[in-house]
Amino acid sequence: MSQELQKIIAGRRAAEFVQNGMVVGIGSGSTIAHVIDALGERVAKENLKIVGVATSEKTRRNAAQLGIPMYNVDDIDKIDLTIDGADQIADDFSAIKGGGAALLWEKIVAFNSRQNIWVVDSTKRVPKLNQYLPVEIIPYGSDQLFKRFQADGFHPTWRLDQNGNPVRTDSANFLIDLHLPLIDNPRELGDELIKMVGVVEHGLFTDVVDRVVIGEDDHTVQVLD
Ligand code: A5P
Repeated sequence: MSQELQKIIAGRRAAEFVQNGMVVGIGSGSTIAHVIDALGERVAKENLKIVGVATSEKTRRNAAQLGIPMYNVDDIDKIDLTIDGADQIADDFSAIKGGGAALLWEKIVAFNSRQNIWVVDSTKRVPKLNQYLPVEIIPYGSDQLFKRFQADGFHPTWRLDQNGNPVRTDSANFLIDLHLPLIDNPRELGDELIKMVGVVEHGLFTDVVDRVVIGEDDHTVQVLD
């Protein structure tokens, strides 16, 4: 089964965990696009009443277009459930996020949610995290921070758009991707990164998720609690 079909079946299954009356945090990325579609259908066909909190401007626009009223995270009391994607999920349920540049809002929404579900295709499951790690940084002093990442052996690269300019996040920050062969201790690395002056947030998510929904190659969906 193709990766895209795995995303679709997992996205539709994850959307079933949403109940009437919930405040729902809605993640970002190509997998979550299927969750948004499924929620839009439920709003239209089942008269599902929910309000959403977006993790990116793109998600805000797409969900609002499908009839989901969208609120700012500061306009609501607490988010009942957030459904988001991930770039990699390790066996200890730590994850790398931020491939779509939305990691900062995703982390804020996740930490303000009673429950968090991640939805992925089977290619995202790994024993240990071993993919590039996005770090959101303040533009001022960013060249200095880049040099420090180099000196620390983090093998940084700038996240650039198709014109070769630095990608700007929804908070107008820059992104640097760190290339480490293996992230053995994500908590330790996350603690080290967040202490660096100029780092706003990093894409390591630990102790966040309650449930993982995985679209498998054999057409099944696995739910891990
Ligand atoms: C957005 O910044 C990311 O954290 C996404 O949640 C993650 O990259 C998954 O995206 P895809 O579903 O497009 O793979």
